Amino acid sequence: MRVVIVGAGNVATVLGRLIKKAGHEVLQVVSRNAGNAELLATELGCTFSDNSGLIDKTANLYLIAVTDDAMGQLDERYHLGNKLVVHTAGSVSKEILKNITHNYGVLYPLQSLRKQNMNLQQDIPLLVDANTDEALTLLQDFAYTISANVSKANDEQRLTLHVAAVLVSNFTNHLYAMAADYCSKEGADFKLLLPLIEETALRLRNHVPGEMRTGPAVRKDIKTLQKHLALLAPYQSLHNIYLKMTESIMNP
Ligand SMILES: NC(=O)c1ccc[n+]([C@@H]2O[C@H](COP(=O)([O-])OP(=O)(O)OC[C@H]3O[C@@H](n4cnc5c(N)ncnc54)[C@H](OP(=O)(O)O)[C@@H]3O)[C@@H](O)[C@H]2O)c1
Repeated sequence: MRVVIVGAGNVATVLGRLIKKAGHEVLQVVSRNAGNAELLATELGCTFSDNSGLIDKTANLYLIAVTDDAMGQLDERYHLGNKLVVHTAGSVSKEILKNITHNYGVLYPLQSLRKQNMNLQQDIPLLVDANTDEALTLLQDFAYTISANVSKANDEQRLTLHVAAVLVSNFTNHLYAMAADYCSKEGADFKLLLPLIEETALRLRNHVPGEMRTGPAVRKDIKTLQKHLALLAPYQSLHNIYLKMTESIMNP
């Protein structure tokens, strides 16, 4: 496939690398910031532009990887006739693309993607959707060239999974960040917790999460819970979260 990538952030970069690795031709990177567009274009060996009016119209696939809000601002300069245009967002309907082409869809990576330190050895789960059977087949075939883990999900299914993704990834990472900050202030070594973090996640390969609950709240060790809350009293936000989580675990 001949591909144009719009955006030069984390998703554009990681998917761009995979697309190139799979043997497709990336023709151009179009992005708001010329420096970022050039950086990615240089890595992918293609041209770049910061002017959407100069978008290369000869590609078969246009991958729009800009922020959710910026997608609402795609204007007539992106009119691409019958070209297949897809976005990469979990919580934006594919219909947002209906005014710029007759063939549109979504290629949503259900993974946290970062330009730096990204392990590309494992297949990224890709959720695909399109407005016609023909576009869906084309997109599915393309998706399978960059990952063996491809599923179909419509707008509602993708939105549901995006909410779940925020819970399991963004929220847990926020807890890690708060715990790391707490450890640092209390002079404890956060790194000692890494095997515990890994073990808790790896258990889910073979067990359902509800059956893997452990800790003082599950055991209803009230005295221990009171000790923990007393220790967290100076950390108001962490104290509130600990209390809420404890209540939620005790009354699931
Ligand atoms: N990162 C993830 O883990 C992940 C996973 C799945 C799906 N997604 C989805 O993929 C999409 C891109 O996310 P990302 O993580 O790649 O974001 P990102 O790293 O923040 O990059 C965002 C890109 O959008 C451009 N942009 C921002 N505001 C713009 C505007 N007003 N007009 C035009 N371009 C604008 C930025 O251009 P500049 O270079 O000029 O700033 C940049 O190229 C989002 O819809 C996100 O929900 C992300």
